Amino acid sequence: MQITSQKIIDAINEQIGHEYSAMLQYTSISAHFTGETLPELAAYFARQAEEEKQHALKFVDYVVDAGGKVVIPAIPAPVYEFPKAEDAVQLSLDQEVKVTHQVNDLVKLAKEANDYITDNFLQWFVQEQLEEVSTMQDLLSVVKRAGEDNLLRVEEYLAREGGKVHGGA
Ligand code: FEO
Repeated sequence: MQITSQKIIDAINEQIGHEYSAMLQYTSISAHFTGETLPELAAYFARQAEEEKQHALKFVDYVVDAGGKVVIPAIPAPVYEFPKAEDAVQLSLDQEVKVTHQVNDLVKLAKEANDYITDNFLQWFVQEQLEEVSTMQDLLSVVKRAGEDNLLRVEEYLAREGGKVHGGA
């Protein structure tokens, strides 16, 4: 028995695609920073990629629990060229803002359908997005302040604060 509408299952399947898309983008950014010998930035984005995978899997589990069929859409190729470190972090912030809007749209859909089970499930993501946007905003500020010639300062910042700068999957 499917406990939520097909429309909502379809929308969540789309969101699984968005989360995997974010995962691929962060993997691409992490690889870029590894290539630039900036290991703390590389590790930070590798952790972000792992979190996105966990987000995708939470949605996958939900579709299964709700009795729906998991249909993962095609995932677009990530951006892989970043002339400046700032470009990669700005792209990440833009991506988190986009995902926040996507999650808000899902909440709206659930509320309009009086689907309180899905609405309740989505609240974890609402909270998570607040944290993800905020930590990425912090990192962007640090990267901008350091400047492209002083990215080792960003590395020091992440080595010091890295444990705290996370979203928690
Ligand atoms: Fe899963 Fe960073 O949004």
